[in-house]
Amino acid sequence: MTPRAADRARYDRATAHLDAPLAVVDLEAFDANADDLVRRAGGKPVRVASKSVRCRALLERVLARDGFVGIMSFTLDESLWLARAGFEDVLLAYPSVDRGGFAELAADAKLAAAVTVMVDDPAQLELIDRARGGGAEEIRVCLELDTSLRLLGGRIRVGARRSPLREPAQLAELARSVARRPGFRLVGLMAYEGHVAGVGDALAGRPVRSRAIRLMQTAARRELAARRAAVVRAVRAVAPDLEFVNGGGTGSVQHTAAEEAVTEIAAGSGLFAPRLFDNYTSFSARPAALFAQPVVRRPGVGVVTVLGGGYPASGAAGVDRLPVPYLPEGLRYDPMEGPGEVQTPLLGAAADDLLVGDKVWFRHAKAGELCERFDRLHLIEGDRATGEVPTYRGEGRTFL
Ligand SMILES: Cc1ncc(COP(=O)(O)O)c(C=O)c1O
Repeated sequence: MTPRAADRARYDRATAHLDAPLAVVDLEAFDANADDLVRRAGGKPVRVASKSVRCRALLERVLARDGFVGIMSFTLDESLWLARAGFEDVLLAYPSVDRGGFAELAADAKLAAAVTVMVDDPAQLELIDRARGGGAEEIRVCLELDTSLRLLGGRIRVGARRSPLREPAQLAELARSVARRPGFRLVGLMAYEGHVAGVGDALAGRPVRSRAIRLMQTAARRELAARRAAVVRAVRAVAPDLEFVNGGGTGSVQHTAAEEAVTEIAAGSGLFAPRLFDNYTSFSARPAALFAQPVVRRPGVGVVTVLGGGYPASGAAGVDRLPVPYLPEGLRYDPMEGPGEVQTPLLGAAADDLLVGDKVWFRHAKAGELCERFDRLHLIEGDRATGEVPTYRGEGRTFL
């Protein structure tokens, strides 16, 4: 039996009493992936990216392990919810204009001590200041640095369009704006090199493209390391008691951790290990989150139809955003239909061994987005389902 066939047998046995659709997390794989992130971080703490998990119980599980500290959250509403629930160190990694949220944050000492908000523009500071109303608590602020690689005098740009702040002087200037404003305290700096951490460099069957990506990433890492160090120096000159410099993501943990200027690493996707994280030379992780759809009919030889499954991931639309039929091996989509809203035909010889009522196991392209489709995750240990935990959605929370 291949390892994948053994996993299928295990998941089928563990969930034999449960009706699909359902989602599972294999705890042994999840914990092994967590250990590997910590190992790769080489002694620097790992901040867990909540958007890539979207399940409070699993965030707690991760934070209970040595090597993890704090949450990297994705909306202010979520940050406040987590802080109210007892999470004590929540870095909101994206700017927010949630005025109601800022009023709440500035009025509550516990929330204000726990949550740090992201700023890359004086307009955001101004908005927060107006929104705070009478709230007098000091707002903890983190500045974000643009990590993109610029080539040919800026005509070619590689990297996500995030912060407009690039040069040390620009960040020092905004740091001074924060320092001048009563009620704000600059505590952190963040730079996420998504074009290194989030782009696989070992694409199956595409050696030339993989090599080009590796060359780009080597150049990007080198340029960013020098610039990030200079930015940290410039910002520390304004804010000497800066608490943290956050960088990286699942695909770049060991490289980012090697930079002296970086004090902590962000990572989340490496826990569930969705399919977009299969193609990296820097690490490999075990698929830990899967979902099952039931076979509901058999249209003919070499084809079965499962219920649902059309859960594409965010990002530039393409086939790489689709879930993959994973178990049993050897199933593929009908190119004319793809994964459907309600019905998904699957082709391949493996279809002929499937009966009505059997489960087909899929992997999502991205990590946390899976949890927007399911209200609970069944926890698998060995060949048993040992519990279930609610996703954010299961707790009635759909932040984005
Ligand atoms: C600011 C920031 N840091 C880190 C990450 C990396 O998260 P993950 O490890 O889930 O890819 C992301 C993901 O988009 C991010 O936006």
